[in-house]
Amino acid sequence: MKIAVVGLGYVGLPLAMALSQKFTVVGYDIDEQRVVELNEGLDSTNEFSSAEIKGAPISVITNDDKLLQDCVAFIVTVPTPITKDNTPDLSYLLAASATIGKYLKREDLVVYESTVYPGCTEEDCAPVLERVSGLQTDKDFYLGYSPERINPGDKSKPLVSIQKIIASKTSEGRALIKHVYESIITAGVYEAPSIKVAEAAKAVENAQRDINISFMNELALMFYKMNIDVHEVLKAAGTKWNFLPFKPGLVGGHCIGVDPHYLAWKAMQVGYIPKVILSGREVNEQMGIFLAEKMIAALAQKFGGEIKAKRVLILGFAFKPNCADTRNTKVIDVYHSLVKAGLLVDVYDPLVDAKKVSVEFGLQLTVQPLYPYDGIVLAVPHQIMLEAEDSAFASHELKISI
Ligand SMILES: NC(=O)c1ccc[n+]([C@@H]2O[C@H](COP(=O)([O-])OP(=O)(O)OC[C@H]3O[C@@H](n4cnc5c(N)ncnc54)[C@H](O)[C@@H]3O)[C@@H](O)[C@H]2O)c1
Repeated sequence: MKIAVVGLGYVGLPLAMALSQKFTVVGYDIDEQRVVELNEGLDSTNEFSSAEIKGAPISVITNDDKLLQDCVAFIVTVPTPITKDNTPDLSYLLAASATIGKYLKREDLVVYESTVYPGCTEEDCAPVLERVSGLQTDKDFYLGYSPERINPGDKSKPLVSIQKIIASKTSEGRALIKHVYESIITAGVYEAPSIKVAEAAKAVENAQRDINISFMNELALMFYKMNIDVHEVLKAAGTKWNFLPFKPGLVGGHCIGVDPHYLAWKAMQVGYIPKVILSGREVNEQMGIFLAEKMIAALAQKFGGEIKAKRVLILGFAFKPNCADTRNTKVIDVYHSLVKAGLLVDVYDPLVDAKKVSVEFGLQLTVQPLYPYDGIVLAVPHQIMLEAEDSAFASHELKISI
């Protein structure tokens, strides 16, 4: 079975590598630089070492779509971002569907792994596959959905160890998709009764996390005003057996802060305004500014109100600890707020791609912290950064986190 993985990012690369142990795999990505780097054994997402990439028997990694032509299964792992007004941006999904449509044959299988709203696979993607290929879904080719649940940066839960939800409408489609994933997922598969259920389940997993963190963030905002340490409150409350151990923090990235909008958008399309989901999003969006305000207040207290030109170090720029991904990072809000207050701000993150940060955020990361600083913001405390930091950091008296 020759399988194409379409989109070789955080989700597609590990999948292509795992599948290549059992199938012939074509890794396809439109990003030429990513393709060149992967062929050289370089993974800019920092998920795999050069030896791991070179050791995976992926038959070809390419940006030439012609190499998709004799594949019999296509798995789509392209981005699903939102636009500025929080509307789902399906452009990558639809473009990938059009590419696959060119090579789709009878009896082939197309599986979407990208996170979407319920209905997207059948109502938005399948029509593109049908239009371009001239074939009919569930009659000529099989359509499936299997959400990805990996957690980049967390080496303790590799792809194969996470149970995989799968769904397809026809029994032939279900048998095929089951065969593909059961071959690689040691944790097994869960057959959802429909593609819509599988799509909704994934969106809900991330929306639940977003809402739970938003409650913690609301507590952080409230208790800060009451001059009570929220972490001490959570520690005390956590001694009850059924108190959920969520923590306040910055919610950025491509998933937790984005997927709830997919669900909310779909809900609003059918006439329901999801108040809990949307208010959770609203709270989480404020936290970068809150963190900056906390630092500004602490500096004002330390220096008697005069904080202009004080030097502040922000530790971490990625959207979460131990990860190189900077998409939708909320640290940029912390940075802008501190600069706006007249502070001199250095941002240090040894994990992320400094060139990319410069292009995408107009921000030059500092190569090495230049102590002394008047205050340190622990924005995204990567493990390696904390371990490598010198005593100037460890003994610093003004370290601020949410
Ligand atoms: N990153 C995560 O933690 C994670 C976890 C679970 C699910 N997801 C979901 O998986 C999907 C992919 O996310 P990601 O983090 O891997 O994104 P990513 O940006 O890391 O990778 C996507 C890749 O797709 C490529 N691409 C874009 N359009 C393409 C096209 N038309 N044809 C071929 N390649 C194309 C891009 O160049 C990129 O390399 C999203 O829907 C996301 O929500 C992500």
